[in-house]
Amino acid sequence: MPLRAIAYASEATAGLAADRVDGLVEDAARFNRMAGVTGVLLHDGACFLQYIEGPADGIDSVYERILQAGSHGDIIELARGRVSHRQFPYWAMRWLPVDAALLRQLSVGDWAGFARRIGQDQSRPTAMDLLAGVVQPLVQPG
Ligand SMILES: Cc1cc2nc3c(=O)[nH]c(=O)nc-3n(C[C@H](O)[C@H](O)[C@H](O)COP(=O)(O)O)c2cc1C
Repeated sequence: MPLRAIAYASEATAGLAADRVDGLVEDAARFNRMAGVTGVLLHDGACFLQYIEGPADGIDSVYERILQAGSHGDIIELARGRVSHRQFPYWAMRWLPVDAALLRQLSVGDWAGFARRIGQDQSRPTAMDLLAGVVQPLVQPG
């Protein structure tokens, strides 16, 4: 089954507390599990950057919920398209704290084709390389 992915950045609603983020991500993970969607949500306290992947119908219904959510606004879609396999199959959804500089770097990063540049020009990492740099230490013991 072909897989789709979407990455977007958004601004958290002013005063959104960390425990509210925990709650919305719990709700998100429950829905994503049913929709066959996996991914990750980065948050620096003010902005979000989320990557989701899964079957087209699952991605459509999840993204619709994301667009409707009042906890954030100014959503900017960074990339959308097909992926050949799941890049981050680990979590139905999980949020990870990151610093503002990294979130900004990802927001202006190279998302073309959700490509990785492993073993090639490491001085110019793609957005997926940067995202993998955040996720991999959490999923690879040692
Ligand atoms: C940054 C962010 C990411 C979200 N990610 C998902 C998601 O991956 N899957 C999903 O079904 N809903 C997602 N949602 C929707 C929430 O789970 C929740 O239903 C919604 O935030 C509740 O509505 P409210 O924000 O208007 O209070 C997301 C919402 C926000 C703000």
